[in-house]
Amino acid sequence: MSETRFGAGTSRAEALKLLVERFRRSELDDPSREARLTLCAAANLPQAALIAEPDSLLGGAAARLEEYAVRRLSGEPLSKIVGRREFWGLALSISPDVLDPRPETETIVEAAVALFAGRRQERLCVLDLGVGSGALLCALLREFLNARGLGVDISAAAAEVARRNTLACDLDGRAEIRVGSWTDGVVGPFDLIVSNPPYVRTSEVDSLAREVRHFDPRLALDGGIDGLDAYRAIFPQAARLLAPDGWLLVEIDAGQAGAVLAIAAKAGFLERSTHRDLAGRERVVAARSLRTALGQRNHERDNRHERVIAPD
Ligand SMILES: C[S@@+](CC[C@H](N)C(=O)[O-])C[C@H]1O[C@@H](n2cnc3c(N)ncnc32)[C@H](O)[C@@H]1O
Repeated sequence: MSETRFGAGTSRAEALKLLVERFRRSELDDPSREARLTLCAAANLPQAALIAEPDSLLGGAAARLEEYAVRRLSGEPLSKIVGRREFWGLALSISPDVLDPRPETETIVEAAVALFAGRRQERLCVLDLGVGSGALLCALLREFLNARGLGVDISAAAAEVARRNTLACDLDGRAEIRVGSWTDGVVGPFDLIVSNPPYVRTSEVDSLAREVRHFDPRLALDGGIDGLDAYRAIFPQAARLLAPDGWLLVEIDAGQAGAVLAIAAKAGFLERSTHRDLAGRERVVAARSLRTALGQRNHERDNRHERVIAPD
């Protein structure tokens, strides 16, 4: 079926109507919303402008709207088409080389802010393993104003995007981005280590939604046969790199909490908990520095001993 192309003389209202019709014949979930967002992105308009001035013409935006429509119909997320994504209130650049940062990943930032509530002004050291676009690192450095951060990614192209974002967020003076595998060559201690690692089972990657399987890098998704490879690598390494009183926070997928808590226990973390996302799903596993937890136990044991022997 031949499609009506948009022209410079097409009005916003006509364009919206044509776009909704085209999107309705596709797999897109909410064609009206998708059409509004795509039109506004292509014409660089706030949504209110579609209501306030429906008769204004597309002009030079027509060709861009046609390109965006074709790409969106092929399943490419709008964020990837425009190369931008908002995360924790920050406008980040994204590219085909990085995972499109997800709103649920903000649960790690929320958990960090809560766990470090009394230490917001300290010169914290933060490590982000699998930094991708830099979303987590940038958000954390925005929250902890005196913190410094290191982001590591195995993908040089992803690391480049993270560098661009730290620069654009004016955080480059406090952030370093390196290419490498997890903590190889990294020297601690760190007060906070975060990671949103690849956690999809290899056998399930090809059945993910096409927005994900075709447009997020496989390196960001494939977590090995049981989806847990990255956690098995990260927990023992983080245990060595955490400062006393430090926290490791990792994102998990639905149903992985039990297995990841067990990996944390095996790596020696005595204090472990989960944090839920806005949908109420267990989304983050938090584990406190082995040395702190041990130190705390020893401290309590010594105090008990002192109390026992004090009356004598
Ligand atoms: C799920 S993405 C997370 C990206 C970003 N932190 C976020 O939350 O949006 C996982 C990232 O881990 C990186 N990665 C995969 N294996 C890695 C490894 N062995 N060492 C370091 N990074 C790795 C991928 O390249 C990808 O950027």
